[in-house]
Amino acid sequence: MTALAPSSRVGDVLELVVGEVVHGGWCVSRHDESGRVVFVRHALPGERVRAIITQLGARLARADAIEILRPSPDRVAPPCRYAGPGGCGGCDWQHAGLPAQRALKAAVIGQQLARIAGIDREVVVLPVDGDQAGLGWRTAVTFGLDGSGQAGLRRHRSHEVVGIDRCLIAHPLVTQAGVTGRSWPASADSVQVCVAPLSRERGVLVAGRALTADRLPELDAECVQLVGRPGRRVPVRGRGYLAQRAAGRDWRVSLGGFWQVHPGAADALASAVLTGLAPQPGDVALDLYCGAGLFAGVLAEQVGPDGAVIAIERDVAAVRDARHNLREWPWVRVLRGDVAAVLDSTGPDRASLAVLDPPRAGAARPVVDALCGRGRHAGTALRRIAYVSCDPATLARDLRLLLDGGWELADLHGYDVFPMTHHVECLAMLTRAV
Ligand SMILES: C[S@@+](CC[C@H](N)C(=O)[O-])C[C@H]1O[C@@H](n2cnc3c(N)ncnc32)[C@H](O)[C@@H]1O
Repeated sequence: MTALAPSSRVGDVLELVVGEVVHGGWCVSRHDESGRVVFVRHALPGERVRAIITQLGARLARADAIEILRPSPDRVAPPCRYAGPGGCGGCDWQHAGLPAQRALKAAVIGQQLARIAGIDREVVVLPVDGDQAGLGWRTAVTFGLDGSGQAGLRRHRSHEVVGIDRCLIAHPLVTQAGVTGRSWPASADSVQVCVAPLSRERGVLVAGRALTADRLPELDAECVQLVGRPGRRVPVRGRGYLAQRAAGRDWRVSLGGFWQVHPGAADALASAVLTGLAPQPGDVALDLYCGAGLFAGVLAEQVGPDGAVIAIERDVAAVRDARHNLREWPWVRVLRGDVAAVLDSTGPDRASLAVLDPPRAGAARPVVDALCGRGRHAGTALRRIAYVSCDPATLARDLRLLLDGGWELADLHGYDVFPMTHHVECLAMLTRAV
């Protein structure tokens, strides 16, 4: 076997036996006496592969499996021709069957919980409806533009754009918008397409410098906007938002604003949050990091006019959307600002239930402290928390803090709302330890 050696260089080919999966779409191979670890992409646990070194550091190397000498029984032919070594970096697990992908994600969640939070727990990752065998689901895609004005997707860990004709995980409406195969002006940097599967609306955001509408290629989209300096939008056509459908109603979501990108995700998570929190009429609920107000809306119906929902969000456009989406329930208040700062001034003290759905970085420490009833929040009435997370590592970090702060982990599931990629959504339900 060709081992990783002190003289190894990027581009050398190693023969490896691949070990366990780790966070980020890698498997590890620990095989040389120097103790260096090789993170291998395009491989599966148990496989014997030939792998080309793509990066070398003092303590670890990265490599792409380029030849599979002993395949895993979970291996399948990747459906997309851009998914292999050196190709597009968007998908990590196209070479594994869907049940195997979910088992890999479950293993990663379990590993993060054990290593970071000291929680020993078997995790199941559930499929959700709304994709075609793991393809055709992604309702928001950002295309990069290469030097010749062609749209494509970025290589793994690189800004380099790989020209593609079609992304197989993209929702068909994204492909219909017609971003690839066109000539884009040199002043454009990237093109984001967002679509709403049920209203069938398509929106396109073109980012760049000194862009003008007359230089854009013909696009098949209801709504088009130019993005210049951060936050500065120039409408080209359409109303600037899409109507997304979930939990039996329409939600206005501004172009580029947060909405779950898998067509079945918003429904699946809203329903699981409701089941877990079991809101009763008269409850006071918090929706932290509320985006366009999805969880606040489903909670508002349950707590009714004798209860209240306090939703907190920082992004101006999302706050506008949430206020619009939640306008029929006067007992919902949408507060604009940083969650930590708003909680510091208002406190969670009256609330009995909370859902939080922070960005990848997880909840800020003062937010966790407030949920634990520390400092001025002592005496909080919170009895259940639903923590929605798109990063098992920061979820594990925050769970450790919550458990140390008097909460118990009642339930935790993964949801496969990013098939073919290493990403996974988690929902952890917490109750007060007695
Ligand atoms: C993962 S999204 C969740 C949105 C919503 N729960 C949903 O399901 O559609 C996270 C949201 O948190 C907002 N956000 C990020 N950091 C924040 C902060 N420090 N304070 C308030 N909102 C924040 C983002 O603008 C984004 O809308």
